[in-house]
Amino acid sequence: MNARTAEHSRTVMTDLVLPSETNPLNNLFGGELLARMDRAASISARRHSRRIVVTASVNHVAFNKAVPLGSVVTVDAKVSRAFKSSMEIYIDVWVEDRESGNRSKANEAIYTFVAVDETGTPVAVPELIPETDLEKERYAAALRRKQLSLLLAGKIKPNDATELKALFE
Ligand SMILES: CC(C)(COP(=O)(O)OP(=O)(O)OC[C@H]1O[C@@H](n2cnc3c(N)ncnc32)[C@H](O)[C@@H]1OP(=O)(O)O)[C@@H](O)C(=O)NCCC(=O)NCCS
Repeated sequence: MNARTAEHSRTVMTDLVLPSETNPLNNLFGGELLARMDRAASISARRHSRRIVVTASVNHVAFNKAVPLGSVVTVDAKVSRAFKSSMEIYIDVWVEDRESGNRSKANEAIYTFVAVDETGTPVAVPELIPETDLEKERYAAALRRKQLSLLLAGKIKPNDATELKALFE
């Protein structure tokens, strides 16, 4: 299987915030942003693996800034690391200023997707080649995040979380 770059999986989705998608403060409802990020991440995982992909875990979400009604929101997703059947997807969320057109970072999230066959059984995915400094940084930290996610899900024992243990040694 040919390794693929992070850029190969890049998925950029731009859309408005409409009244039906806001909370009582007239800011984007968190669940709506989660859904947008899930869609972009799913396309990204699919582009990398060329397989059916399912969301295995939402590893991290930071709603750092409220996104007001009428904003133009861009969700930018890329595979940050591929393991055996799972892929970590890193998502940056940007909001565009109407007058200046400048974009500022509003939120970010990290999802894990798993490639599966028609029966839902996990299948192998190509390796990921990080190219930029940021891609390399995210790639390097991804194993630690995978172990943390598996530990919190009760799927590995603390002793098997070698990358996490190394942080405290
Ligand atoms: C995701 C799913 C395929 C994993 O199946 P499983 O029986 O746990 O399979 P495995 O134990 O072989 O794990 C498969 C991969 O997922 C990873 N994984 C499983 N749970 C994970 C979690 N909580 N966090 C991070 N990675 C996880 C494993 O580490 C493994 O990765 P690797 O092959 O790259 O090493 C299965 O749980 C599933 O189908 N879940 C439902 C998915 C779904 O419907 N999503 C939409 C929700 S509405």
